[in-house]
Amino acid sequence: MKLILTLFKRNLLIFLFLISLISFSSLSLSKHNAVVVTRHHLATEVGSKILQDGGNAFDAAISVAFALAVVNPSAGNIGGGGFALLYDANKKTIESIDYRERAPIKAKENMFLDEKDNVIKGLSTSSFLASGIPGTVDGMYQIHKKYGSVPISKLISPAVELAEKGFRLSKFQANYFNKNRDKFSKNPETKKIFVKKDMWKKGDLFKQKDLAKTLKRISKFGRDEFYSGETAKKIINYYKKNGGIFTQNDFLNYQSKFKPPLCSTFIDYDICSMSLPSSGGIVLSQSLNILENFDLTSYDHDSLNYNRLLTEAMRFSFADRSEFLGDADFNNFDISKITSKKYAKTLASIIKSSKSKVDIDSPGEYFTESEETTHFSIIDSNGNAVSNTYTLNTAYGSGIIAKGTGILMNNEMDDFSIKPGFPNFFGLVGSDANKVESKKAPLSSMTPTIVFQEGKPFLITGSPGGSTIISTVLQLLLNVLIFDMEIDEASIAKRIHHQWKPDILFIENEKKLEGIDKLGFDTIYRERIGETHSILFHENRYEGFADLRRPDGKAISVH
Ligand code: GLY
Repeated sequence: MKLILTLFKRNLLIFLFLISLISFSSLSLSKHNAVVVTRHHLATEVGSKILQDGGNAFDAAISVAFALAVVNPSAGNIGGGGFALLYDANKKTIESIDYRERAPIKAKENMFLDEKDNVIKGLSTSSFLASGIPGTVDGMYQIHKKYGSVPISKLISPAVELAEKGFRLSKFQANYFNKNRDKFSKNPETKKIFVKKDMWKKGDLFKQKDLAKTLKRISKFGRDEFYSGETAKKIINYYKKNGGIFTQNDFLNYQSKFKPPLCSTFIDYDICSMSLPSSGGIVLSQSLNILENFDLTSYDHDSLNYNRLLTEAMRFSFADRSEFLGDADFNNFDISKITSKKYAKTLASIIKSSKSKVDIDSPGEYFTESEETTHFSIIDSNGNAVSNTYTLNTAYGSGIIAKGTGILMNNEMDDFSIKPGFPNFFGLVGSDANKVESKKAPLSSMTPTIVFQEGKPFLITGSPGGSTIISTVLQLLLNVLIFDMEIDEASIAKRIHHQWKPDILFIENEKKLEGIDKLGFDTIYRERIGETHSILFHENRYEGFADLRRPDGKAISVH
């Protein structure tokens, strides 16, 4: 009965949401400018060219995703996975696609532990056991099958050309390659491509011949090339030879999945984001629900009181993430328990009744019932929108390239809770809900988000940054929706991050929060928190903004 009620409530919300979209259909039918914003100017140019040539936002997203695999190899990928939110302006529907990596069939709960149950350093991040089965190629082909309007070979061809003819490295990229030299040098294939004897410098032409050949084969033979063709064989054999556990069935069985996004309300807005196996939308929704109980407009953006509220909302939400969340195909947890307005009200009342830091020892006790990843946002002139975040996990993933493929492989297995309570690369802890299991997806923090106002895409955003992705998106939303900032100001504003454990408030350099320590918070200053690539509807047009925290990003408006 409880299940039926939950399903009814969920469907009712989706139904009401769709009705609101339909009632404002006339608004979104009118043509407007299109915008592409990504982490790399060449990928942005690829996407905007597709739109100029008559492709839709979905075509542009596919083309951008393949191009980023070439020009932004630290996170853009075909050897990893991710999530996208897809808004179809014609049908007025929004859905998400989960093309997250899955654990290999032979994966086991204790695979990263020694005989004494101690974590073996580096095994989940830089070994042949570190990778999940990549989902990006399947994800892009699924999106194309359902939404594409341009032949996919045309969408992959800019990536082929960039890999074959090469592109000029920016200063940032050249330095980043040099910084990761040791990591690249551990694998002969990676070393061959990414290590230069005299070090890289700005303006060097960077070619990826093997990757170009792989992309050409994919373009010619389709998604099966990656999952059962020459590419699959090359990856599986190389991994087998080097102690990995990939099998043919792992690749044959891989399937990305279309899913309903997690949609909730915040003041007058409908906010849709990613649900499990990403925790992004859930933590975002829980945090916003808590904050909705306060008169947010009465606070100053940089005040101690506002930042304390923000911190406590994050702490409660991240604590519940750690305790309860994992791939929904393997756990029965009812997420409405932590995303309900009622639960948020209870948590908000605890924050209200306390003047300093709240004790959160047992998440859920109040129930009444490398900063690497990359995000791009696209809207076309018909209002179709894509919010896509995908990743190899840490910078350049595992650093392993299977011989002859040119494909950097992910190290997403580290996003599992490899031992209960043991922090992963991002310091996140997890419970049994996120333990390693065969064919399971590791819990993610990726938060591709679309905010709707009166049924029309209003704000499209997302970020890299591991666990800080969620707090970054949360603050970008609050900056726009509560503090009326324009998209540049909202993106540039300094951020904070708290993920419950470690019990530390991270503050971006230059943000002044004097007195926060007196409220009981231990603080650490960080150079950077997140990096958003967003589009905002403002004064009758869409405006894109590529975060300035790192160079090379670009937004292009197409008329
Ligand atoms: N690999 C980072 C994330 O998925 O959250």
